[in-house]
Amino acid sequence: MKGVILAGGLGTRMLPMTKVTNKHLLPVYDRPMIYYPIQCLVNADIRDIMIVTGGNRAGHFLELLGSGEEFGLKALHYAYQDGGNAGIADALRRAEHFADGEKIIVVLGDNIIENNIAAAVQSFRQQERGAKVLLKQVEDPQRFGVAEIANNKIVSIEEKPKNPKSDLAVIGIYMYDAQVFDFAKQLKPSARGELEITDVNNAYIQQNTLTYEILQGWWTDAGTIESHYRATQLIAQGGANKI
Ligand code: G1P
Repeated sequence: MKGVILAGGLGTRMLPMTKVTNKHLLPVYDRPMIYYPIQCLVNADIRDIMIVTGGNRAGHFLELLGSGEEFGLKALHYAYQDGGNAGIADALRRAEHFADGEKIIVVLGDNIIENNIAAAVQSFRQQERGAKVLLKQVEDPQRFGVAEIANNKIVSIEEKPKNPKSDLAVIGIYMYDAQVFDFAKQLKPSARGELEITDVNNAYIQQNTLTYEILQGWWTDAGTIESHYRATQLIAQGGANKI
């Protein structure tokens, strides 16, 4: 299985820090944000990794990470998302050639978790087809994609609902088979003008091939001032993803 880290976007929720650099290059505690999703994949034994970026200072990723040697990788792959901020699913489309028909695990570059997800990855390796998402109970589901569960299945996911049907957020770590690129091509922009990853996940729900697991250990995004501060505190208190 190959890994894809999405690290584009304009980081508008973190201005002015993101005025001249990419959000994923900002520090979180003692290292740049992008280090955490890379380490998360490496710890789950995913060693073929592409970083999709765009917007400000894309070249700095290459300068910072090079061939990925620091993470024990032989090579890192890069793709550029031109066209500004067209959404997560648009960024993902840039990895189609790299995926080359294999299953992929997609990590949003501002998502940080405490534990190793190797077991979930292993169970997806054995899943015949479809996708798998990871869910986490949160206090502020309005900020995320929210899963509605019935009879142990996800029956819908709503993006940033005003009245969430549960408190289970869909975290930014997704496992997909090769159909993901066909689904992504069929999307229409949402109200916020983006191609939404939630719509990709809903396509798998329609097909009845979306599985899920509840994530153990803490999870946070780091894409707003508040969540970035929280991420720094969590890491300071106990490390992330057993780095
Ligand atoms: C994105 C996804 C959302 C998901 C979240 C996880 O939100 O659209 O479904 O729950 O990442 O961090 P965004 O960061 O674009 O607001």
